[in-house]
Amino acid sequence: MTVSFDTFEHFKERGLASRRRGDYRAARVYLLQAAKAMTELAESVAGELRAERRRTAARLLELARDCERMGERDVPAAGRRGGQAGSRAPVDARGEDSEATPEDWVLRERPTVSFDDVAGLDEAKAEIRMKMIYPVAQPALAERFGVRAGGGLLLYGPPGCGKTMIARAVAGELEATFFAVSPAQILSKWVGQAEQNVQRLFAVARAEPAAVIFIDEIEALVPRRAESAAGGSAVMSRVVPQILTEMEGVGGRSPNPLLFLAATNEPAAMDPAVLRPGRFDEKVYIPLPDAPARYRMLELFLAPRPLADDVDLGALCDRLEGFSGADIRRVCERAATIPFLEAVNGQAERTIAWADIEQVLSASRPSVTPAMLARYDRFAARGE
Ligand SMILES: Nc1ncnc2c1ncn2[C@@H]1O[C@H](COP(=O)(O)OP(=O)(O)OP(=O)(O)O)[C@@H](O)[C@H]1O
Ligand SMILES: [Mg+2]
Repeated sequence: MTVSFDTFEHFKERGLASRRRGDYRAARVYLLQAAKAMTELAESVAGELRAERRRTAARLLELARDCERMGERDVPAAGRRGGQAGSRAPVDARGEDSEATPEDWVLRERPTVSFDDVAGLDEAKAEIRMKMIYPVAQPALAERFGVRAGGGLLLYGPPGCGKTMIARAVAGELEATFFAVSPAQILSKWVGQAEQNVQRLFAVARAEPAAVIFIDEIEALVPRRAESAAGGSAVMSRVVPQILTEMEGVGGRSPNPLLFLAATNEPAAMDPAVLRPGRFDEKVYIPLPDAPARYRMLELFLAPRPLADDVDLGALCDRLEGFSGADIRRVCERAATIPFLEAVNGQAERTIAWADIEQVLSASRPSVTPAMLARYDRFAARGE
């Protein structure tokens, strides 16, 4: 099967967005993936179209190289390792280069979000509770009934619907340490010794009383046919088996439960090998918010702000069908800025009125398209 045009678009968009944000390391990785996808797409056609696609791939590669150069500039000179582009290994107390530690590419935190902060997603929450929360919270009971937490859990679904949020909430619920791993950083060349770093990460996590390891945007780390083409693949071919091995040893057994979660909005772009039982055997769909979830979001995002009497949350909830959680939050935030700006400019302070919301809605579209939703249905039906 050749790579789809959507996969190409996905990587290109992410690459360009990362570049705009100034995150050159992530941009490089995504642009390389986009170039690789476009190279494959070129092979599936002939003639002028093929030539054009090859030129597109070449332009993306050039852009990726640019990002690599920009990324190097970000790196503090003291942390640079001779000759290795973008290497950011820290310098230890003796002034010698030490190896990159997981702390360099992992965000470690203790989230305070709980499942209550996540609107809707009742089925997903129930599944996650069964698989990850109850066995860890009730170890004796789980032992008696032979219920064990573990394996990997893959959250997939359209952007902005709460995948990252629910992963953090799992850690919040369990009062566990949360290790958020960025594939873009794992794949960046500055992380020397990538597979040792993965080993170290799991070791550090296992030493915690309870830990959740979360890899966001995992499709960038385990793309279909990881062996082929553009840069980063040498790292990938060593890192991915290491992660899979570590994952197979992941379990929820007390006293040191370690859980593994990953998220993607491009599940079809992933290597099917990682979806096999014992790995991500549990796949949880995180859909667009239904009406009750949208209402809860309005309670969270809009109700705490000063509202005029003509604002009808029920009516707004209906109008927001098809919008993602992130979209809904944006609508609420934009509506609030209208009276806010008026007040800043010296006009009388007033509440947020329905007219403000109408104005924002007229300029807003759902970010998730029906075509994207159809892809998730196909994935759910096929399982890979
Ligand atoms: N179910 C939800 N409940 C409450 N807030 C939500 C929910 N879904 C999305 N949001 C809001 O949208 C923001 C983005 O959500 P989040 O980052 O979890 O989405 P995601 O599914 O991980 O998206 P992506 O695929 O783009 O990474 C959240 O920070 C939150 O403000
Ligand atoms: Mg996310």
